[in-house]
Amino acid sequence: MKKESLPEIAIVGLGYVGLPLSLQFARSGLHVLGLDIDPDKVRALNNGCSYIKHIPAEAIAEQVKGRRLAATTDFARIRDIGPVIICVPTPLNKNREPDISFVLETGSLIAPHLRPGMLVVLESTTYPGTTDQDLRAVLESGSGLKAGEDFHLAFSPEREDPANPASKVGEVPKLVGGFTPACLEKAVRVYGKAIKTLVPVSSCRVAEAAKLLENIFRSVNIALVNELKIIYGSMGIDIWEVIEAAKTKPFGFMAFYPGPGLGGHCIPIDPFYLTWKAREFECSTRFIELAGEINTSMPFHVVERLSEALNSMRKPVNGSRVLVLGLAYKPNVDDERQSPSYRIMELLKERGAEVGYYDPHVPLIRPTRDHPQWAGTKSVSWDRSAIEGFDAVIIATAHACVDYQQLADWARCIVDTRNAMASVRVAAGKVWKA
Ligand SMILES: NC(=O)c1ccc[n+]([C@@H]2O[C@H](COP(=O)([O-])OP(=O)(O)OC[C@H]3O[C@@H](n4cnc5c(N)ncnc54)[C@H](O)[C@@H]3O)[C@@H](O)[C@H]2O)c1
Repeated sequence: MKKESLPEIAIVGLGYVGLPLSLQFARSGLHVLGLDIDPDKVRALNNGCSYIKHIPAEAIAEQVKGRRLAATTDFARIRDIGPVIICVPTPLNKNREPDISFVLETGSLIAPHLRPGMLVVLESTTYPGTTDQDLRAVLESGSGLKAGEDFHLAFSPEREDPANPASKVGEVPKLVGGFTPACLEKAVRVYGKAIKTLVPVSSCRVAEAAKLLENIFRSVNIALVNELKIIYGSMGIDIWEVIEAAKTKPFGFMAFYPGPGLGGHCIPIDPFYLTWKAREFECSTRFIELAGEINTSMPFHVVERLSEALNSMRKPVNGSRVLVLGLAYKPNVDDERQSPSYRIMELLKERGAEVGYYDPHVPLIRPTRDHPQWAGTKSVSWDRSAIEGFDAVIIATAHACVDYQQLADWARCIVDTRNAMASVRVAAGKVWKA
């Protein structure tokens, strides 16, 4: 960057949340420095390339060329910058407990470069107390400075909805909670440069808790329709028609849709951040646990429906060729983290099926921590002979770019978890809703 365009804001963690946020600040005219420990992302960004499918390379290139956006792995660069926003992962560990190690590691990388007056904001979804207790402790011990006195500290949850054209980072109202009123004021001033509507709340903990409420609300409501899908299904009533009917009520109802289980970085994970924290206060989180139980049982339900469908053709699951359509956890994205498709594929394999997947957004499965056995597996190609070669196709994610009429014509049997075949001409008895 040229001298006259020294960075004005640093964003740490250039993933699904940090990259769009960086672009939004850059588009608003600020000079943004992105920091990530992944040198591939840093290189790609500096070359104006995208590594997230729904973010076009041109959008990045335009800001890089205009010298409003650059990336680095060098945390010492923070020394020259005012605010630092942290957007790093907050997964669960193998015991399904919060893993805030990425947040704490980031804090310890930032701490030596903290200067008086600086603002640090956490955006990663987490349990109440992470910002003003855990992160604060790391920042204070590594810098010798005091939050609220020497530097500002805040929490502002991301409300990113990848690939949703209606969800624009700058337009979605943003919650902000500060460690002190002065911290809040500073954070609101910084975000106000790029975000249209800011919603200040009284503390970091309220902002952390509000984000969890938003995600728990989704998890519980999805579990509810998943359970009703099975109950109504056994009564011969179509849940999707029921939801469309209920949706006509202009108040007091919000439509949620059933599916093959939960996926993504948020809904299957975040509620358990609260479950873990609640134990400290001797509180149980029964709604969260029950919703988790129902949602994680959905892949079993899908495989059960598949086995009924195959059975009707006098075929066992063992030895059948089954295609899972859609590996990404939601339509039109390339993000397959925590996707229920993996669970379905694993259950099918355990039962002796030969499994393939088709996903134009995920042509190859990269190595992942959770599903290493699928690394290197490629999506089958979309052609008549390939699709006809499978005994059954499970629609797990209904990408818009798939030709469902071709699927109806080519597939021998379709297990539809998304109601994707509802308006497609298809031979009677070929589609099994699941
Ligand atoms: N993806 C979403 O739609 C979404 C929506 C709302 C909130 N969130 C929350 O936002 C946070 C980030 O999620 P994401 O989807 O952007 O994750 P991501 O995995 O896409 O991106 C995280 C980035 O952080 C980098 N990183 C990890 N440790 C680092 C460190 N110590 N220093 C610098 N960079 C580091 C990784 O290399 C990666 O590029 C999570 O807490 C998530 O729950 C995500």
